[in-house]
Amino acid sequence: MKVGVLSGGGDAPGINAVIRAVVRKGIRNYGYQVIGIKDGWRGLVEGAFTPLNLKTISGLLPRGGSILGTSRTNPFKREGGPQKVLDIVKENGIDAVVVIGGDDTLGVAAKMGELGLPCVGVPKTIDNDLGLTDYTFGFHTAVHIACEAIDRLHTTAEAHHRVIILEVMGRYTGWIALEAGIAGGADIILIPEEPFDVKEVCQYIKQRLERGKTFSLVVVAEGAKPKGAEKIVYGTGSDEFGHPRLGGVGYYLGKEIEKCINIETRVVVLGHLQRGGSPTAFDRVLATRYGIAAIDLVHKGEFGQMVALHGNKIVSVPLKDVAGKRKPVDLELYEISKVFSG
Ligand code: F6P
Repeated sequence: MKVGVLSGGGDAPGINAVIRAVVRKGIRNYGYQVIGIKDGWRGLVEGAFTPLNLKTISGLLPRGGSILGTSRTNPFKREGGPQKVLDIVKENGIDAVVVIGGDDTLGVAAKMGELGLPCVGVPKTIDNDLGLTDYTFGFHTAVHIACEAIDRLHTTAEAHHRVIILEVMGRYTGWIALEAGIAGGADIILIPEEPFDVKEVCQYIKQRLERGKTFSLVVVAEGAKPKGAEKIVYGTGSDEFGHPRLGGVGYYLGKEIEKCINIETRVVVLGHLQRGGSPTAFDRVLATRYGIAAIDLVHKGEFGQMVALHGNKIVSVPLKDVAGKRKPVDLELYEISKVFSG
């Protein structure tokens, strides 16, 4: 049996830990041959591979990024793309593909599965917005980094009597903003699921000033938008899955706050610092469990499935039920955050 592994979409800390687990159990327990597919689906459209063996996975567990590379290539947007993928898989004798990805990459896996490609999915995204799993790997690390940033911003905001806005990632959902905001004790948390009212944000800050709190910490997800307006994009164009490049809501808000209240405001965009570097211990363990479960599914011949975390158990769910269904933030958690707002 020859198993291909690919990672697509934005990287997330823990991809290499998944690869390590797939390769280790695939080779040592099942006697498989494992091959790395370069740069997500691009590697299967263009035929770009890299060897994977017990030597190439040595030292991978704590390493961020992806040794395979990643891309946002969508074979369904390329002329004859899906057929090229099937041909290349056949030419290279690949019997199954472990696909590490978020909504877009796994959506392609679901569609390619219908065309006859045996795929197993692994849920990856720092955004944690994938349906049918409690957690995607990479999210815990992103929250940890964002929380540390809030802690650091708190002390300088307090010393300078300023408002500091931290813009975090989260294109369609506010998981990172919400969990990091709660963990870091942010005064205001703004998420894409609930458009915000600038006047209300200013009101919260004014109330804090009246209570003698001369500083405020606002956490805003990049996909949050003011009521009645569009999401704020950075530049033009979109990727092969149709997503525009977001960014700028923090600066927008900063200007609005300074217009309506006499308080100095600063903006910090955390950006890719949330995605780079070493995974937390939680993400290393989760990614390892996902990798092991994925190769076990391959061994059982259970294709068209994605491994998932339900409670503390690893289960599997149909890939076709995951694609296109975003998981919004936990409303109970959002209610909890409101107790600490303003
Ligand atoms: O999909 C995960 C994500 O981190 C989003 O939160 C963010 O909008 C996007 O990736 C950024 O993508 P890129 O690295 O391609 O700019």
